[in-house]
Amino acid sequence: MAILEIQNVTKVFEDNLVVDNISLNINQGEFFTLLGPSGCGKTTLLRMIAGFTRPDSGKILLDGIDITDLPPEKRPLHTIFQSYALFPHMSVFDNVAFSLKMAKWDKSKIVSQVAELLDDVKLTKFAKRYPHELSGGQRQRVAIARALVDRPRLLLLDEPLSALDARLRGHMHVELVKLQEETGVTFIYVTHDQSEALALSSRIAVMNLGNVEQLDKPQEVYSKPNTYFVADFLGKCNLLPAKVIAIKANRITLCVADILEFELEMDSLNNITVGQSGWYSIRPEKVKAKRREPEDAELFFAKAIVHGYYYYGEGTLYIFMLENGTKVQAMLANYKTEQASFFEDNAQVMLSFDPQAGSFIAR
Ligand SMILES: Nc1ncnc2c1ncn2[C@@H]1O[C@H](COP(=O)(O)OP(=O)(O)O)[C@@H](O)[C@H]1O
Ligand SMILES: [Mg+2]
Repeated sequence: MAILEIQNVTKVFEDNLVVDNISLNINQGEFFTLLGPSGCGKTTLLRMIAGFTRPDSGKILLDGIDITDLPPEKRPLHTIFQSYALFPHMSVFDNVAFSLKMAKWDKSKIVSQVAELLDDVKLTKFAKRYPHELSGGQRQRVAIARALVDRPRLLLLDEPLSALDARLRGHMHVELVKLQEETGVTFIYVTHDQSEALALSSRIAVMNLGNVEQLDKPQEVYSKPNTYFVADFLGKCNLLPAKVIAIKANRITLCVADILEFELEMDSLNNITVGQSGWYSIRPEKVKAKRREPEDAELFFAKAIVHGYYYYGEGTLYIFMLENGTKVQAMLANYKTEQASFFEDNAQVMLSFDPQAGSFIAR
């Protein structure tokens, strides 16, 4: 069931259309992410949900009730920003207890509720410390505990981990997902980091220039992007020029990069016609390379030569060149000890992939 409904919400700053008629529903208990490049309108949309910014038009409903005109302090939600605003003169315990004291909770109930949250964020031992005696990661955990302690309907998080180093961010990802599951609070998370969005979210809205380009589960937006932007923004991607040359039932035949021809099964054929141009998108890790032709009849293969490669640690990214010069990237996993390269420059190889592992994006 939808906890939050965003209906035709628009925001213009000066002449700048920052949020362009966005409509979407967020479900109860979701870890929902707004993902997009800097400046695409994520924070503005989040601030409208929080009530800090008023939409120029459109409505926002929480639990079916129109909250568009409700001031921020009347909304049953909390917001966490990149810069954690803890009260510096209060202990960790008092920071977390703050909203419960304001709501005049019973003292013994406050003690047990705060203890539970501190335990959840593994800060029980730090209850008496002050913010300046904590690391950045610990301070952010206090901010999260404080924001969850009165069980809000929504927790809004705007790039909350971007000040932390990569290792700490990884730890926090695991904790955030656990906290969200344990508390059942609906999270709306903003990030420009695609790997963070993929790892955390139950669903992702990919934003570009004030619009939502695709809204789906992480594995869907990653492997079946709807638009060129989504394919390109969510990590490395081969985006090969393609044209529909035949349609039969729910299958299309594509001519890709002028020399490859294969069939693709489609979930829907809406508006796709013979002659339609666009791109065939396939992630580099879905492309394999062998010295010889593979035997698997399911696979499509194409001759290529090695154009170059980059060592990435967990894999090596190869740039292959098809016979007509079109470049195709393949990420080959470094599963053997110290393996860094599989082929030398200009080596002849046979590329193979399952056409269904990629998707057709209409122009
Ligand atoms: N209060 C404001 N006044 C004028 N322009 C703003 C204001 N807030 C944001 N903007 C502009 O709106 C655009 C989107 O900003 P923002 O929502 O912060 O994007 P994001 O969070 O995706 O980086 C940017 O071009 C930004 O400069
Ligand atoms: Mg922002």
